[in-house]
Amino acid sequence: MKRDYAPVLPGEGGTDYARYMRTDALLDLQRRPEEVIHRDELLFQVVHQSTELWLKLAAAEVAEATARVDGDEPGEAELLLARAVLCVRLVTDQLDMFRHLSPADFQAMQPALGNGSGAESPGWRQAQTASRHLGRAFQDLLARRRLDLAVLYDGSPADPTHRLAEAMLDWDERVALWRSRHYRIALRIGSHAPAGVRGSAATTLARLADHRFYPELWQVRADHATGPAAERTPVSAAGADDE
Ligand code: HEM
Repeated sequence: MKRDYAPVLPGEGGTDYARYMRTDALLDLQRRPEEVIHRDELLFQVVHQSTELWLKLAAAEVAEATARVDGDEPGEAELLLARAVLCVRLVTDQLDMFRHLSPADFQAMQPALGNGSGAESPGWRQAQTASRHLGRAFQDLLARRRLDLAVLYDGSPADPTHRLAEAMLDWDERVALWRSRHYRIALRIGSHAPAGVRGSAATTLARLADHRFYPELWQVRADHATGPAAERTPVSAAGADDE
């Protein structure tokens, strides 16, 4: 069906889609053909820029989930965290695009990147800050309810607070999966000394891949696998469709 509507929104662009989505500005954010020193800069920028957008959404959802935890609404927080988890799954998948980038191509575009590193990603910084705030909000929630984690995991897995804890584990795991994938990609494309060699970026990335935001949640889960309540402890309620 042909659409032929005149735009009614203010802003730049020939259509309301262009005006609302700001497509002119968005599509102008990549280096122009006459600027690029390597044609794969477009691939490189699209993956990074779209990652920043998904992480902006993820961090906003985690921040809102934290506000819901503060407001004693663990069920709402769980739903919001599921969105954030999906954001990070999507950015993990798109790391696969770098499989098409050879070390030589990556090396050739280095002058265009200056000293830039994904380690400076504002999206990842926000996501990490939001994750720490969520962890503190969860501890406060337990304290307000005079609830011990072990007791929580002894109780019903349908309890909204228990479900929130599991959603936080999903989030923690999803970030770790991104890190593992990113580490592999860095090994494949970068020219670093292998992990284990002191000072190598690979060593740092391998260590970070084991980082956990909420070690106490992983611990209580592990404890319940071996404790008397093992039979009542369910496998993760939320869909763990990991690779
Ligand atoms: C060609 C693809 C990529 C390569 C070769 C690569 C390589 C690296 C390397 C070597 C490091 C270690 C620190 C450094 O030397 O700067 C690093 C860190 C980092 N990179 Fe990447 N990276 C790639 C893509 C990405 C993407 C798409 C993102 C998303 C924004 C990203 C985000 C990060 C973050 C957040 C760190 C800090 C370590 C962490 O928190 O786990 N990188 N990357």
